[in-house]
Amino acid sequence: MQPETKPSHTEVEHVKAKSNYLRGTLLESLENGITGALFPDDTHLIKFHGSYQQTDRDLESERARQKLEPLYSFMIRVRVPGGVASPKQWLRMDELADQYGNGTLKLTTRQAFQLHGVYKRNLKAAVQGFNQVLLDSIAGCGDVNRNVMCSANPDESRVHAALYEVAKSISAAFTPQTTAYAEIWAPPGLAEETDAPKGSREEGNWSKVFLTTPGQEDAEPIYGKTYLPRKFKIALAAPPENDTDVFANDIGLIGIEENGDLTGFNVAAGGGLGMTFGMPETFPRLADLLGFVRTEDVLKVCEAVITTQRDFGNRENRKFSRLKYTIERMGLDAFRKEVETRSGVAFEPLRPFQFKHSGDHFGWTQGQSGRFHLTLFIEGGRVRNTENYQLKTALREIAALLSEGEFRLTGNQNLLIGNILPNERLEVESILKKYGVLEKTFQQTALRLNSIACVALPTCTLAFAEAERYLPRLIDQIDAILRKYHMQKEAINIRMTGCPNGCGRPYLGEIGLVGKSPGYYNLYLGAAHDGSRLNKLYREMADEAGILRELEPLIAAYAMKRNPGERFGDFVIRMGYITATTHGTNFHN
Ligand code: HEM
Ligand code: SF4
Repeated sequence: MQPETKPSHTEVEHVKAKSNYLRGTLLESLENGITGALFPDDTHLIKFHGSYQQTDRDLESERARQKLEPLYSFMIRVRVPGGVASPKQWLRMDELADQYGNGTLKLTTRQAFQLHGVYKRNLKAAVQGFNQVLLDSIAGCGDVNRNVMCSANPDESRVHAALYEVAKSISAAFTPQTTAYAEIWAPPGLAEETDAPKGSREEGNWSKVFLTTPGQEDAEPIYGKTYLPRKFKIALAAPPENDTDVFANDIGLIGIEENGDLTGFNVAAGGGLGMTFGMPETFPRLADLLGFVRTEDVLKVCEAVITTQRDFGNRENRKFSRLKYTIERMGLDAFRKEVETRSGVAFEPLRPFQFKHSGDHFGWTQGQSGRFHLTLFIEGGRVRNTENYQLKTALREIAALLSEGEFRLTGNQNLLIGNILPNERLEVESILKKYGVLEKTFQQTALRLNSIACVALPTCTLAFAEAERYLPRLIDQIDAILRKYHMQKEAINIRMTGCPNGCGRPYLGEIGLVGKSPGYYNLYLGAAHDGSRLNKLYREMADEAGILRELEPLIAAYAMKRNPGERFGDFVIRMGYITATTHGTNFHN
């Protein structure tokens, strides 16, 4: 008789378990000069330190022809809780991109910075470089709670400041406690040298945060030795703005105000967008609303959700490890009960709220404090200089000029420069003018201003097709159609990714395009403009001509037959072009 076999844990689970709190053999891997890559196990572990090993896919066949190993380099994701960086931090990231990266900065859809093209030999110097300005990359990737998102615009909600404080405290509470990060990345003896204000883990102070005293043992009170079964994401939003796409996250927290004060949150859980082609058991799913909790209870509730996922999440097959599948297996009511029991907090009935947009609002605004905010469009989130547009230089000059204020990364790959002093506004304006930055924002059609593209080729090893490098050109074509029907001012969300993993949240695009093979995309339609409904597959494997052929009649009909104020995503459903996805479980129907 065959012995009964328990499904075995995945390779990644074993790697985590024997890694001694994320150390593995990373130090040896980094020092090994024979290859530009890490040892295989360490490629999993380095994600927890905020980095992915990648290859330059543009050079793949040429390097193979020359019998060279692929050109390995690393992406480093730098956490920015709530997306708020100081001008000084911006300047440092700008510098590091030139010094160790490919000369560009990517502002991601989850409000983090990414450096691309960092060679192994430069990794440590790059990490030390941003730690000097109190930024870190721990938990940038990996099976842990990642960068915590928060609505970017300080002026669009009265409760924003309180919301941001909660975002920071969540980020601090769920940062891994391992001292491996400092052990691997900090220069020896740095502990005393940082200019960090003494205090919380969030301040990135090596000495306080990650360095161990001799003999001290590591522990992860929340995560344990094997951390979570899969990545974990938390986002906060302040209605009416859903610029963080809260429902795409494992935990979405919707700030509720009462007489101008933040009283608490409607809590949603179980969002996650990744899926695998050809496996309908995998699907994008929006978070379900669980109930309302008071602000003082929100950390307890988040911890209970995290530990429930830690204990109930699938560790046998990473395709089914996200919280969304755990909730499907447990049932929403049982899951809610488990969270209540663990946290000791009972969910109250949901409070009313209304989202209106998931995009950003561009240009200047003046806050109640008299300070100015400026939201700039950054196509594909890529900050770079080109022959015609010196965006990176312009932003560097602004960062160098500002004595106060912040560089706030939005959840839509854009940038809000916030809290500019009134007496510095004129100088900022003259820099914007010198480099044509505002024109670049205001010349764009509403479609482009509402576009998101993931990185895809050449760095992402998972990409089947282009995204960031191609979407701008496709938008030129779609814009021509929109102009023909006088619809160029109509804000429609368009999102493209190079594979179905969903990093650019394509299943929340009113027009979603997901790469299937070079030049071919699945076209999805019917998501809600406010991020509250997923789209659905409309055409499979369309090339550019096919995409345009499908979209033109829909745009023509939208121009003629839409109701006042009706969004494109709602229109295609009302007209019967596509049926609405009402839950992740019917995404494929
Ligand atoms: C199985 C699922 C996924 C895998 C294996 C995966 C893997 C990756 C990789 C390798 C990159 C780096 C690409 C590069 O910068 O060269 C990346 C980027 C990124 N991913 Fe994912 N990802 C997954 C799903 C998601 C989802 C569902 C989201 C959010 C909704 C997300 C958010 C991001 C963000 C914000 C970036 C940064 C680049 C950008 O803004 O385009 N990922 N992901
Ligand atoms: S969606 Fe796919 S192609 Fe795009 S960055 Fe994510 S993993 Fe890479």
